[in-house]
Amino acid sequence: MPLMQVDTRQALGRNNVAVLPRLASREDESYLDYVESLRSFVLDGMRFDQQLATRTGHLEDTSEPPEERLKKVREAAAEMPVAQARDRLMRSQQEMKWRRICSSLDARRDIHLERLKAAEGRGPARLELDPDFEQPQYANVHFHLQPDGYYKDPLAGFRYHYGTKVFFVGDNDKDQLHASLVENHLPLPADGRVERILDLACSVGQSTTALKQRFPAADVTGIDHSEPMLRCAHHRAVELGVDVRFSQRLVENTGFEDNRFDIVFSFILFHEIPMRIIRQTLAEVRRVLRPGGMFAVYDFMMAREMTPAQLYHRYFDSRNNGEPYGDDFCYAGFDSLLREFGYQQAAPGKRLGTTQAWYATLPAS
Ligand SMILES: C[S@@+](CC[C@H](N)C(=O)[O-])C[C@H]1O[C@@H](n2cnc3c(N)ncnc32)[C@H](O)[C@@H]1O
Repeated sequence: MPLMQVDTRQALGRNNVAVLPRLASREDESYLDYVESLRSFVLDGMRFDQQLATRTGHLEDTSEPPEERLKKVREAAAEMPVAQARDRLMRSQQEMKWRRICSSLDARRDIHLERLKAAEGRGPARLELDPDFEQPQYANVHFHLQPDGYYKDPLAGFRYHYGTKVFFVGDNDKDQLHASLVENHLPLPADGRVERILDLACSVGQSTTALKQRFPAADVTGIDHSEPMLRCAHHRAVELGVDVRFSQRLVENTGFEDNRFDIVFSFILFHEIPMRIIRQTLAEVRRVLRPGGMFAVYDFMMAREMTPAQLYHRYFDSRNNGEPYGDDFCYAGFDSLLREFGYQQAAPGKRLGTTQAWYATLPAS
């Protein structure tokens, strides 16, 4: 039995902020707050990174190939008992998180499905689903261990949203992460023209709505392949009263006309698609971005720039946290890939914590 009974209206969101799904009971929310603090403890409180740094100081020298440095970092970590504890806790806190999120959302499954249904056809946000859409095989992955992955369960969007609340340890409680990227770390195209914006792989639409809030006169579209993500994104934008469009499309084959967009925005997509699809997506963005437009990509930093601890975390995540394509991206050399596809730097890239921002544009042909 849930400790607290909530009605449909209350179920709209935890603290009714940014329509983060409200869980079935305060007990569940409290448990997930505990998991969030456990995560924070594993990341910082255990001081694993500092201990590893003490043993691997000389491997900070990034002139050595990252594959070589990683090998030595793993050898050093194998001698550290705390590394095993850290790895087990990293895995366990993810499993604890998903178990509780799923059971809590399932306890009120009918209400959540009703919420999605009630949003259908409501504005100002619009939703376009493709009845003939076929999910690509490479997307059939339980990213970050999310049960059923991104598209098989109708509540996948709500699961993902609460999952990222815990994952970002406080930075995603009120959409502040997405709002900050859009408000503070998105340069304009050189000519300042922003009429149409594409949010690539928008999931639950937090950057899509933030983009509309920054550029109220622009036409803003978020695309994703997952119907449950898009339904959740649409419901969320309806609740927030933001006029954006969500459309079920593939990032590597969007179906939009040439030169349509002034800005193409992409937050943490590229490390979740295989290299073949990364390349197709770069070609597709080159087609739909107008010359002089802004292609802003925020994703994991490159392996060659990582500290020993970051190399260790990335290795662990790729194998034990449902990130099978993470290495494709991190070891690729994204700058040279962008150049290979004809992009030029539009503004100097930026490091934002462990995320890197790339700002690219296309010359007039
Ligand atoms: C890590 S999430 C992206 C995060 C999102 N930009 C955000 O801010 O929450 C990855 C998203 O990419 C979507 N996705 C992955 N591959 C895709 C593809 N080929 N086409 C469209 N969407 C894709 C997934 O469904 C998922 O919603």
